[in-house]
Order: sequence, then structure tokens, then C-alpha cells
Amino acid sequence: MISESEARGEIVRLSKSLFDRGYSVGTAGNISCLVEDGILITPTNSSLGFLDPDRLSKVSRDGRHLSGDKPSKEIFLHRAFYDSRAAAGAVVHLHSTYCTALSCLADLDPNDCIPPLTPYVVMRVGTVRLLPYTRPGDPGTAKLILQLEGKFAAVLLGNHGPVVSGTSLQSAVAAAEELEETAKLLMMLRSLPVRLLGDQDVADLRKHFPQA
Ligand code: 13P
Repeated sequence: MISESEARGEIVRLSKSLFDRGYSVGTAGNISCLVEDGILITPTNSSLGFLDPDRLSKVSRDGRHLSGDKPSKEIFLHRAFYDSRAAAGAVVHLHSTYCTALSCLADLDPNDCIPPLTPYVVMRVGTVRLLPYTRPGDPGTAKLILQLEGKFAAVLLGNHGPVVSGTSLQSAVAAAEELEETAKLLMMLRSLPVRLLGDQDVADLRKHFPQA
């Protein structure tokens, strides 16, 4: 696990990178990572492009605010991933355009809402569940994530956007980018006949690139 000061720097650096490339607009999105004695998370209503490392919120694993500005209202989602998925060391929530567009479609398969279009989405993200719409910051959303028992690295929140976990901040951000790119391809290809990867291709990828 990286030190708290490194983690503060990495959250600010990666958040700015996501903001600068349009993955987050306004004050949408939040990022967290585990540190030795708790969770560091972006403050509520902050822009990911303009974070101050010293003002990031620190919260205990059981949700008590320890220091910094008031934590993201989505702290419940982040904690649900940490509590249910042993491999989760960082969590990224975005309202990135194509994932959010996808999350508004009426005919998505809630059990597998990102079909295996390309190898990298299988390797970096895996199967993605679509959760029913809940209000931003609704603690009840955490229950929906806990019910998945840590089997999925990422979920799409209905009419809202993705939540992606990774072993580190870098891997969670990379997976969130890969997921957004795949959502973009799925939207581009929506009216065209698509050839997905076959079951054997997916099994082969999972064998050669097992997810943490
Ligand atoms: P916060 O500003 O509380 O982090 O919420 C932003 C967001 O993305 C809500 O879903």
C-alpha cells in the first residue's frame, strides 16, 4: 500500500488528468483509495481538475470523517467496494459521457451490460452489472453493491454512470478509461450488426490475464 502522502499526490494528479481529458465535468465524479488507517476520498462538490492534496477527505473504514473537507456523498459506494472486494485498493466514480449514455438505455442486460466487444475490456474490467437507478448519495446503493459479494470490479449505476475498482489508483483509472472507451464503441455500433468475442475467446483472455 502506498503512503498517505503519495496517495494524496496520486489522487490529485490522476483526477486532474481525467478532468483535463473530459472524463469528468463540473463537480461530477469522485476518487478514493485505501491508506493504512482509512480511506482518502475527494471532497463533495469539488472539481476533479482543481483538488488540493491537503484538503482531501479522510474517512475511517467504518465511515467516520477523520480530517479534511466534507467527503463525497458517494463515500457509501466506495466503502461498499472496499468492504466486499478484497482486491479493491482504489475506486473511481465518473459521469463519463458514453457510460452514462449507455446507463440510460432501456434494453441493457442488467447482468452483463458491457458485452465482450474487445479484448481489453474483458482483461481490464470484466463483466459489469447494471444497478437500478438510485439517488446520488443514497446509502441504499451500497447495499446493492454489497449484494454482489465482490464478484465484479465495476458496476454501472442506472441513469448515472460507472463505478470502477482496481488494486491501485492507476489500475482503477485505467479500467474506468477502458470502460468508457468500450461504452463509446457500443454506442457507435448500436445500429450495426456486431460480432462479439466468442465464449472461447473470453475464456482464453480470462486464463491469460486473470483479474485481481
Ligand atoms: P460528490 O461531489 O459528493 O463527490 O458527488 C459527485 C457525484 O459524482 C455524484 O454522483
